Amino acid sequence: MCSAVIYEVGHGNKKSDRDTAATKGDEIFMKNKKIGTKCVQGGYTPGNGEPRQIPIIQSTTFKYSTGEAMGKLFDLEASGYFYSRLQNPTCDTVAAKICEMEGGSAAMLTSSGMAANFLATFNICSCGDHIVSSASIYGGTYNLFAVTFKRMGIDVTFIAPDCSDEEFEAAFRPNTKLVFGETIANPALNVLDIERFANMAHKHGVPLIIDNTFPTPVNCRPFEWGADIVTHSTTKYMDGHGSAVGGAIIDSGKFDWLKYADKYPGLCTPDDSYHGITYAEKFGLGGAYITKATAQLMRDLGVTPAPMSSYILNLGLESLHVRMKRHCENGLTVARYLEANDKIAWVNYPSLESSKDYALAQKYMPDGTCGVVSFGVKGGRDAAAKFMNALEMIAIETHVADARSCCLHPATTTHRQLSDADLIASGVAPDLVRLSCGLEDADDLIADIQQALDKI
Ligand SMILES: Cc1ncc(COP(=O)(O)O)c(C=O)c1O
Repeated sequence: MCSAVIYEVGHGNKKSDRDTAATKGDEIFMKNKKIGTKCVQGGYTPGNGEPRQIPIIQSTTFKYSTGEAMGKLFDLEASGYFYSRLQNPTCDTVAAKICEMEGGSAAMLTSSGMAANFLATFNICSCGDHIVSSASIYGGTYNLFAVTFKRMGIDVTFIAPDCSDEEFEAAFRPNTKLVFGETIANPALNVLDIERFANMAHKHGVPLIIDNTFPTPVNCRPFEWGADIVTHSTTKYMDGHGSAVGGAIIDSGKFDWLKYADKYPGLCTPDDSYHGITYAEKFGLGGAYITKATAQLMRDLGVTPAPMSSYILNLGLESLHVRMKRHCENGLTVARYLEANDKIAWVNYPSLESSKDYALAQKYMPDGTCGVVSFGVKGGRDAAAKFMNALEMIAIETHVADARSCCLHPATTTHRQLSDADLIASGVAPDLVRLSCGLEDADDLIADIQQALDKI
């Protein structure tokens, strides 16, 4: 068993210990490279005569000559693969690339972004524990925390991302195990003050977990601002072509679990379901968290991605730095156009000077934020619905971050059961349209928006 640990960590987990050529020496080669180079070449450095593209290891299982050799893998005494529900070399190669991009110590892929957020939090929380979370997060994650975790005996206190220090402090309890937030919230598009959240989490002896899906590590690397663990829905910009659902979890390797051993018995006391291993001692700070999530949670929950999906994800990652630039350029051009249009009631885009989060966006994402813009059409729910239906090129989809532009009017689609009053209470205005600017020419995007506005 090995996890996608790429720098110096515990026994058997160094990538260079593996006998798969796919990973040898890569961590040394990539360590000082810039983000674009990591997107293109990270995770995989082939040797002489080996495939240039990452091999797709489409195998559920792996062969061994002796029971003892396989036994060592089960005991986490040796490094290697035995069953693809837990780990697969193709998936690990891509996890290693994302790990390098975020600047982490270890990483793993999951079958979806929701699986990543579930595993990342459940790895250090159990029945009777408590989480402090920004209220401004993706609706699916909000539901996981507010409804499903409640059923599992885990309580979540939601705070406004711009709450006062007093309100933030008051949210913590003795059984709080982590703080959670999104760098850019979907769909509200607030920018999280990562440094403030990290300082507050650390003051209370717990890690900060950041969902970094919208900016991707090309535009923001939360570990550089004190975050401890990062998650992604790779389904979004990382894949970027609407091809493969997936997720990722990356550990910075910096949170000192042993210092707070009483809080994290799962990492700091022997795991009876794994031959009495104490993860934090055996795999060190850099490897404990991901090794536990893989060995324990992947084993029991099986939310693993298919090797083919990981291969497709890697194709997306190879151009991520080029695509993000264009998504952001299109986002800003469209946001500026909308702001100047008298049929538009309001525009929310964090890279726009008029945004309330502009200063935070400049601090954490000076090169650009994302391609998602939200705005209100004058005339409310009906006008917004009419506008969306009149679009010719921009498609109606419950998706963002795709190469092809798409949009959604929540009041007539995902949130159609809610009254205007209920919509406002849940932070989604009846006139809100969410537009994900793709990679097309900005002139064509604006022309499509203009002709649709002309029809209302
Ligand atoms: C910020 C964020 N996190 C997590 C998710 C869930 O990801 P997935 O759809 O891959 O499960 C989404 C999905 O839209 C998202 O926007």
